[in-house]
Parts: sequence; C-alpha cells; structure tokens
Amino acid sequence: MENFDELALTWDNEPKRIQRAKIVADEIMKAIPGLSEMSGLEYGCGTGLLSFFLQPRLKHITVGDNSQGMLKVLTQKVENAKIKNMSPVMLDLSEGAGIHGQYDIIYTLMTLHHIVDTDKVIDAFSRMLKTSGYLCIADLDKEDGSFHGEGFIGHNGFDQEELTEKLEKYGFDQIKWKICFENIRKSEDGTERKYPLFMMIGKRI
Ligand SMILES: C[S@@+](CC[C@H](N)C(=O)[O-])C[C@H]1O[C@@H](n2cnc3c(N)ncnc32)[C@H](O)[C@@H]1O
Repeated sequence: MENFDELALTWDNEPKRIQRAKIVADEIMKAIPGLSEMSGLEYGCGTGLLSFFLQPRLKHITVGDNSQGMLKVLTQKVENAKIKNMSPVMLDLSEGAGIHGQYDIIYTLMTLHHIVDTDKVIDAFSRMLKTSGYLCIADLDKEDGSFHGEGFIGHNGFDQEELTEKLEKYGFDQIKWKICFENIRKSEDGTERKYPLFMMIGKRI
C-alpha cells in the first residue's frame, strides 16, 4: 500500500499528476454551470492539485484527506499563495466520520479506488450534497491489477455501468461519463502501459 504521508513530500514533482489535475479541472469547468456560486468539497485532495485549478472559479472549497502528510503540504501551499477560499480538513468518510457540511459540488480524483467500502463513502457524498448538487468522480477504468501491483487492497479501477448503478442507488441521476486522460506507467521490463481515467458526473436528486 502507498504511504501517502511520505509520498506527499514529492507528490507535486511529477508533471503528469499536474497535467491530469488540469484536464479534470477543465472537464469540471466545462460540464458544471454556475460554479462561482458554489461551495465544494474535494475528497482525497492530496496536495490540492485539482482544487488549485478550480479555486479561482468556486466560492469556497473544503479540501479533505486522511493523510496528515498531504494536509501539511497542502496547508503550506494555501498559506504561501495567500488563498482565502480553500480550507484543508482531516476527513475520512470510510471511517464513518461525521458529515462535514453541505455542498453544491463534491469531486474526487484518483481516490475512490483506494476506498474498500465505496458504498459508505458514496452514501456520505449523497448526504453531504444539496439537492441538485453535483458529484464528479475521476478515477481508473477497470484494470487487471497491474496499476498498483500485488498487495493492493483497494479496487482495480471501476466498471462504469456498476458505478452508475451504485450512484443511482444513493440518489443520483443524469449520470454521464467519459474517458478524459490516460495514466501511463512503466513496467519493470521498461514497457509502457496505459490506464485510462474516466470522469463520471451525477446530479443529486
Ligand atoms: C492517488 S492520491 C490522489 C491525490 C489527489 N487527488 C491527486 O490527484 O493528486 C489518493 C489520495 O486519497 C487519499 N485517501 C486515501 N484513502 C482515503 C480515505 N479513506 N479518506 C480520505 N482520503 C483518502 C490519500 O491520502 C491521497 O491523498
């Protein structure tokens, strides 16, 4: 399993992660009207790459993660940039943490596959969203397990039909998805493999 506290220190050194966050931010900005009136939550924000791209467009963003290390780097970045509309919080919805506010939009990038009990977290998203609020999930397409390799206990990506059904079960409709990016990883033998990233958007009924 990844040690995100440790990874936090060099997380932003990887240009592909920044490029991925920018592409996902652009998709959100294209797809969701009225962002400037919205308060958002990013779940599993890491160092905040995605939210830094969205921050000029949203009224306020709560940036939540369960890694102290990620939150430390993120808080420093927010302070250095003197950003007033981003609030970092320790948040782990898979641990049954209390509901943290009511949002117009919740978004998450490359985090859901790390959560074993996705029902718990999607249920929490649903309860934390206002009626007609948006949920945006950007995550790995179903893969063969080679993205993380042996010992990983999360999900090997997601089948979009199954995830759509799950979102419907927790009160979302108008669900749409598209492939928006390709993660590229080098295997030990030097060959490159592509792992598509999908963006799914649903509206809270
Ligand atoms: C692959 S990283 C993605 C970080 C960021 N979204 C990005 O794209 O740069 C996954 C993030 O999810 C966080 N995470 C993993 N499990 C979590 C949980 N149960 N609750 C909250 N955050 C979690 C990790 O700490 C990490 O920051």
